[in-house]
Amino acid sequence: MAGRDSIMRKPRDAKGTLRRLLSYMGQFRLVIALVALMCIGSNLLALWGPNLAGSAINEAAAGVGKVNFERVRYYAVRMLICYGLSSVLTILIHVTMVNISKRIGNRMRQDVFDKLMRLPVGFFDRNQAGDIISRVSYDIDVISTSMSTDVVSILTSLVTVVGSVAMMISISLPLSAVALVTVPVSVIYATQMRKITQPRFVRRSKSYGTMNGFVEEMLSGQKTILAYAYEDAVDEQFSEVNGNAAQAYYDADSVGVTIGPTMGFINNITLSLIALLGSVLFMNGTIGLGSISSFVLYSRKFSGPINEIANIINELFSMLAASERVFHLLDQEEELTDREGAKTLDNVRGDVALSHVAFGYDPERTIIHDLSLRAPAGKLVAIVGPTGAGKTTIINLLMRFYDVDSGSITVDGNDVRDLTRTSLRSAYAMVLQDTWVFRGTIFDNIAYGKENATMEEVVAAAKAAHIHPFIMRLPQGYQTEISEDGGNISKGQKQLLTIARAMLYNSHMLILDEATSNVDTSTEREIQRAMRELMRGRTCFVIAHRLSTIQHADHILVVNQGDVVEQGTHDELIAAKGFYYKLYRAQFE
Ligand SMILES: Nc1ncnc2c1ncn2[C@@H]1O[C@H](COP(=O)(O)OP(=O)(O)O)[C@@H](O)[C@H]1O
Ligand SMILES: [Mg+2]
Repeated sequence: MAGRDSIMRKPRDAKGTLRRLLSYMGQFRLVIALVALMCIGSNLLALWGPNLAGSAINEAAAGVGKVNFERVRYYAVRMLICYGLSSVLTILIHVTMVNISKRIGNRMRQDVFDKLMRLPVGFFDRNQAGDIISRVSYDIDVISTSMSTDVVSILTSLVTVVGSVAMMISISLPLSAVALVTVPVSVIYATQMRKITQPRFVRRSKSYGTMNGFVEEMLSGQKTILAYAYEDAVDEQFSEVNGNAAQAYYDADSVGVTIGPTMGFINNITLSLIALLGSVLFMNGTIGLGSISSFVLYSRKFSGPINEIANIINELFSMLAASERVFHLLDQEEELTDREGAKTLDNVRGDVALSHVAFGYDPERTIIHDLSLRAPAGKLVAIVGPTGAGKTTIINLLMRFYDVDSGSITVDGNDVRDLTRTSLRSAYAMVLQDTWVFRGTIFDNIAYGKENATMEEVVAAAKAAHIHPFIMRLPQGYQTEISEDGGNISKGQKQLLTIARAMLYNSHMLILDEATSNVDTSTEREIQRAMRELMRGRTCFVIAHRLSTIQHADHILVVNQGDVVEQGTHDELIAAKGFYYKLYRAQFE
């Protein structure tokens, strides 16, 4: 819920952000100009109303006993027309602005999503999904809502303030002086209160974020909490977090709610002053009753925007802060484009070699120091080693999710940096430990790897992955829907589905990164056998924890702390009685 934190936070580069926002509005500039005109028109019409009311009252007061109803009705009808037209214009303005702002929000969302598709893997390793989601949904909502209301509010306030003051002065200079005397008081009060409330609102949104985070964490760890019998402790923690949030809300809102009534009171002081001076002027005969009444109406109109200004400024700040977060995401460096004149990898044989590769995710922390290995075409290469040894990192480099810091990786003799990423990646099929299934039928999930896959092909792949019998036991077979998180099938079954998907994908090389970790040993062996059948003549990289399943690999690389410490066939490695031997013994005793 990092999105919530953006509320009320001051933007860092307000000018630059505003300029970019305006560029988003640019394509609608004609419509916006029209809206501005309508806005001025609507407010001028509304401003004319009190004047007409005053005239009507003056008319009535002048002819006590013999009122000219004709004239009064004339003013009343005009008033109705003025207010009616003004309302129609206001409706038009709001509908147009909602339309424009939704379209701008829509385009921003599209831009952000397009961006996400072009960002390198490293970005997603570094950033929390929740934070990215809150930018796509919450922040863009804040921006578009604020656009649809605040632009109009500002213009309306401006026209109303200037117009009211002009009308007030035209009615009576001394009354205007009295009416305006409290304005500085209001403004000073509002800005002082903003200073008090601002930090309280920041604390309020933070505590809200903390509470949300707590609930999220609790939900995802619910089973663990039950297993450790931590319910009461967690409940207690929540009650503290919840209490803090309630207190923060109280602190902010209890001050917040005092502002309105206080401002109202200040306005009413003005009103009583106007009443006082007005009656004196009336008795002098310098002003008519109607004029006093219009004056009162204008002074009311005038004070509205003054009271609102603090709110509008707050909202603008939140909008700018939200925009900044969205633009920050849009400014992330994209995955580098392919090198000039990059070749397309075709007629893949699958001869892969790493030569003196060094790599670290952070420049300060090298993970792989000096790695050399060769995977000849068509061979099955197993990579083994303890957790954290750097096995997945090697795969990341093979797929070019990251580039090496020094040394080189070649496929069929081509440095991977001279190849287009798309052609390199599509030469591999990859199955990871973290399976990815999507909402759709089992058929769709397996067929994902191949356009226009037929039922026969899908079934053949499912059979090879040993998932066919399970699918057939499902009520709707291959047409069974998988829920979004795949909650209705087990982890192991999900792995088998993704293996079937990879088997169907017509690639020249295959990568299995602990892809069978949730599958029983005998099924794992069967799958490996089927895979070799299917991948005959193709290069396979298999990372597996259970050494029993990779004994028949053509070549085994033993990795520890980012370096290949041993390599050879199973028999050679056992005979060497080294690190592999120790790992192997540990699993069988
Ligand atoms: N995205 C990443 N950013 C920074 N460090 C990482 C990242 N992924 C892995 N590491 C670190 O690299 C080392 C090797 O990790 P990994 O290749 O995933 O190991 P293995 O797959 O052998 O268990 C670990 O120390 C891990 O902390
Ligand atoms: Mg790993």
